[in-house]
Amino acid sequence: MSTRYSDDILFFDNINILDLASTSQTPFYLYSETIISNNFLAYQKSFGNNQHLICYSVKANSNLTVLSLLSKLGSGFDIVSGGELSRVIKAGGDPRKTVFSGVGKTEEEIRFALSQDIMCFNVESHDELDTINSIALDEGKKANISIRINPAIDVDTHPYITTGMKDNKFGIDQSEILEIYQKASNMNGVNIIGIDFHIGSQITDVKPFEESVLKIVSIVKTLQKNNIILSHIDIGGGLGIKYHNEIKPDKNTFISSIIKLLQPYDVTILIEPGRSIVGEAGLLISKVLNTKKTTSKEFIIVDAGMNDLLRPPLYDAYHQIKEVKRNNDGKVLCDVVGPVCETADFLGKNRHLSVTRGDYIAVESVGAYGFTLSSNYNTRSKSAEYLIEKDGVTIKKIRERDSIDQILENEIKHL
Ligand SMILES: Cc1ncc(COP(=O)(O)O)c(C=O)c1O
Repeated sequence: MSTRYSDDILFFDNINILDLASTSQTPFYLYSETIISNNFLAYQKSFGNNQHLICYSVKANSNLTVLSLLSKLGSGFDIVSGGELSRVIKAGGDPRKTVFSGVGKTEEEIRFALSQDIMCFNVESHDELDTINSIALDEGKKANISIRINPAIDVDTHPYITTGMKDNKFGIDQSEILEIYQKASNMNGVNIIGIDFHIGSQITDVKPFEESVLKIVSIVKTLQKNNIILSHIDIGGGLGIKYHNEIKPDKNTFISSIIKLLQPYDVTILIEPGRSIVGEAGLLISKVLNTKKTTSKEFIIVDAGMNDLLRPPLYDAYHQIKEVKRNNDGKVLCDVVGPVCETADFLGKNRHLSVTRGDYIAVESVGAYGFTLSSNYNTRSKSAEYLIEKDGVTIKKIRERDSIDQILENEIKHL
C-alpha cells in the first residue's frame, strides 16, 4: 500500500488526501492506476514466453474504468453473471477472452454469453453441462467448456472464502471428473477445451496451489489416455495480499512454480486474479462525525458504514486505518464504527487513533471486494469512486455517488 505521510499529512501516490477529502463529499473510494497496472504487469512479466491468459476477476472491482484499464493492458476476464459480461463489453473488454464461472448460471445468462462468443464456460455440475449443451444446440452453436474440479484442498483463510474444500458448493468431485468429461465428449453442443479450479481467496501460501495443480496434472494424464485433450488449465485466482501482518506471496515465485509443474503439458495457463491486482490499489476516505466515550469503550463514529465496506463484519477482515492528518498526541484505544444501525457496523476494532469531529480517516487496501460488496442498506448512497491517473497527480471521478432519487426510482408505491 503506497500511502505515506509528509508533514503529517497522508499522501496516496502523489495526492494530498487532506486536500482531496476537504473538497469532496465523503465517504469515497480512491484507486491508484499505477498500482493496478503494476500488479497486472507483474503477472504478465512472470509468464515470460509461456502461453497464458490473465482473466481478471471482475467481482473484485468491476468499475468500468478499472475494467477498461485492464483490458487495454491485455487482460481477459473472469465473470460470474450476465451483468458482469455486460460490464466487460461496455468497458471495451473482449468476450472471447472471457471465462464464465459460478454455480448458478441462468438460461438467459448462458444464451447471452453464447451470443457474445465468450471463450469458455467453467462448468460446475452435471445439470449445468446438460443445460449449456441443450441451449447451445438450440442456438445452433457449440459452447466451449472447461470443467471446474473441486481439488478438496485445505487452505488457511477465512471459511467464507474457501471454495476448493470438499464441503464447498463449487466444482466437481474428483471421483466424477472422468465421467463428466466423457459425457461432455459425447455431446454435440459443447466443445471441451479446458479444466479449472479456484480454491479460495486471500491465500498467502503457494503450497495449496501447487498441490491442486499436481491433482490437475494427474487428471489431465487420465483424460489424455481417454483421448480427451485439453488446450488450457485454469488455476483460478486467490493469491493473497498484505492487509495486516501477512507476508504476501511474490507473484513471480508463484507463477514460476506453476509454470514448472505445467510446462510438460503444452497447455495455455489461465489465471483469474482479482484481489492481488486491485486490493492494495484502493483507499476508502471517511469523515469523523462524532467521537463518543462510554463507560467501557471509546468510539470514533465515521460517515462510512458497513454498506460502504462490508468486509470487516462479513469476514472479520482487518484493514489498516490511518489518520489523514496525523497527530501523535492523544491517541486513544477505540473502535471505528459507522452510522448504520447494526452492532456489526464497524470498520476496525481496538485501534489507536487521535481524531476529533471533522477529521478524516483512510481505510487501506479496500480496492478489492470493497465497493463491489457495497449496498444501499439504511437507504444510504453508494460512494463515489475516483482514480488517480498514472502521473500520480491527476484525479478522475469514475463513479458518481448515488442520489436518493436513484435509490428510490425502481420502487413502485401502490397504497
Ligand atoms: C471462480 C473465481 N475465480 C477468481 C476469483 C478471484 O479471487 P481473488 O480475488 O482472491 O484473486 C474468485 C473469487 O471468489 C472466484 O470465485
